[in-house]
Amino acid sequence: MKYCNKIKEGSERLFDLSKRDELLERKVRSQESKFYWFIWGLVTVFNKWLPVPLKGGIAYILKLFGAKIGKNVYISRTATVKNPFNLVVGSNSSINPEVFIDNLALVEIGKNVAIAPRVMIMTGSHYPFDPNFTTFAEPIIIEDSVWIGCNAVILPGVTIHKGAIVGAMSLVNKDVPQFAKVGGIPAKALYKKDEE
Ligand SMILES: CC(C)(COP(=O)(O)OP(=O)(O)OC[C@H]1O[C@@H](n2cnc3c(N)ncnc32)[C@H](O)[C@@H]1OP(=O)(O)O)[C@@H](O)C(=O)NCCC(=O)NCCS
Repeated sequence: MKYCNKIKEGSERLFDLSKRDELLERKVRSQESKFYWFIWGLVTVFNKWLPVPLKGGIAYILKLFGAKIGKNVYISRTATVKNPFNLVVGSNSSINPEVFIDNLALVEIGKNVAIAPRVMIMTGSHYPFDPNFTTFAEPIIIEDSVWIGCNAVILPGVTIHKGAIVGAMSLVNKDVPQFAKVGGIPAKALYKKDEE
């Protein structure tokens, strides 16, 4: 429920995801077909040799594997996407080199979003002290016009609201309000010394 509410409050959504409530559950959402994983595994291994347009990068390949991607999106060849079918990216967004998207659950990225090199978007985690080390996953929502600086780490269940800026090297473990500028470990609001 928590995540459904976030979605309703969030900015305009780009794709008609009819099973949204299901997508936003706190669980690992996986594509079952072994064939899918075999082919996707091959693609990730041979990625470097596949013909990729300079403008869109691997966006078209991810689309073939089930990602929902808008117009004029750039996704670097060296970005890693675990599960393409758990990825939504809005128009004019860019995902730069060595970004790591561990999308065991949905990762929804809005329009006009810039994700700098080496950002880690981690939907998965484990219950601490659980003897079985059980995995869980929570969706991550990055709304329109967000800028995430290099090497930032975004933890499970976080929503970064419209127009926010996340500084380089930040650890984002809580939702970021719209048009906020945050940074640090854990990420907090950033002010200049002479600002109130
Ligand atoms: C977040 C950022 C945009 C802030 O820029 P800014 O508005 O000019 O803010 P300032 O540089 O004036 O900093 C304001 C305060 O926040 C601190 N700060 C800035 N960036 C920070 C960060 N990433 N983490 C922690 N603190 C940060 C500053 O030290 C300053 O605090 P102080 O006055 O106590 O020293 C910038 O520092 C940043 O991280 N840019 C990302 C660069 C990047 O990843 N580029 C890739 C290209 S896509």
